[in-house]
Amino acid sequence: MGGKRNSPKKGDMASSSDRHSLYEQSVQNVEAEIDMVDATYRNLRGSTATLLREDFCGTANTSCEWVRRRHGNRAIGLDTSQEVLDWGWQHNVRQLDSHQRNRIQLVNRDVRDPHGEPVDIIIAMNFSYQLFKTRDSLRNYFLAAKAGLNERGMFMIDAYGGHESWRSIKEKTKHREFTYYWDQEKYDPVTGHALCHIHFKFPDGSKLNRAFTYDWRMWTLPELQEILCEAGFSNVTVYWEGTDEETGEGNGVYQPCEHGEDDPSWIVYLSGNR
Ligand SMILES: C[S@@+](CC[C@H](N)C(=O)[O-])C[C@H]1O[C@@H](n2cnc3c(N)ncnc32)[C@H](O)[C@@H]1O
Repeated sequence: MGGKRNSPKKGDMASSSDRHSLYEQSVQNVEAEIDMVDATYRNLRGSTATLLREDFCGTANTSCEWVRRRHGNRAIGLDTSQEVLDWGWQHNVRQLDSHQRNRIQLVNRDVRDPHGEPVDIIIAMNFSYQLFKTRDSLRNYFLAAKAGLNERGMFMIDAYGGHESWRSIKEKTKHREFTYYWDQEKYDPVTGHALCHIHFKFPDGSKLNRAFTYDWRMWTLPELQEILCEAGFSNVTVYWEGTDEETGEGNGVYQPCEHGEDDPSWIVYLSGNR
């Protein structure tokens, strides 16, 4: 979650805001994410998982939801930014009760480096693996994930795309106390590289420009499925979101699919079994 911030002026709303908290409010829905991960593992493996590793865990919000979800669930969060891990510890892990807190571990470690205990589930959400820009580097990460799973382990990532995603575009979403901007500043169709930023704007007109910046390769679904298979995952599956008949919008229910629709903008999950 690296990024470059403009200096907000003392006393304005931007200067008293917290970029990690704004990110959690606007980008994440950890309850829905854990619902999906938990149910998918149960469907695939016929039992419930207990040990989850959250790669690129950032503020460890998802890991906290995992340990809250079931007595006995344990989580390991990996991230290479001590700043974000410390924030996550202060604001998320410390809010858990002591039983939950004892079941969570945050580790400053590269997701490609081996980490001790084999786990039931590894997740890498909010497209973080897109920082690996070559097929070899992405496959190496997937291989490391596979090596971190136990025999019944499952790997799950999300992905986004659609023709609105493969171009420069700025979208805004209004929240009660701020507006969130997703700014895909550049997209290069030859390399597939995209430079994206998150900005926040406040009712007093102040802004947090480039609160977060992502320098990514926009991987396509065929590529992701192929590379997961090349890394040795089996039963590689894409989950497509259903449509709410009244609104025509996504209904939050993701089902395994072999074909998708030519949506302008979609988000999917992918899973692979070790
Ligand atoms: C987009 S944020 C992750 C957010 C979170 N996973 C979510 O679902 O919203 C990406 C995170 O990956 C971390 N990161 C970048 N490279 C990494 C690496 N090689 N190993 C572990 N963490 C890394 C960054 O420090 C940052 O916190």
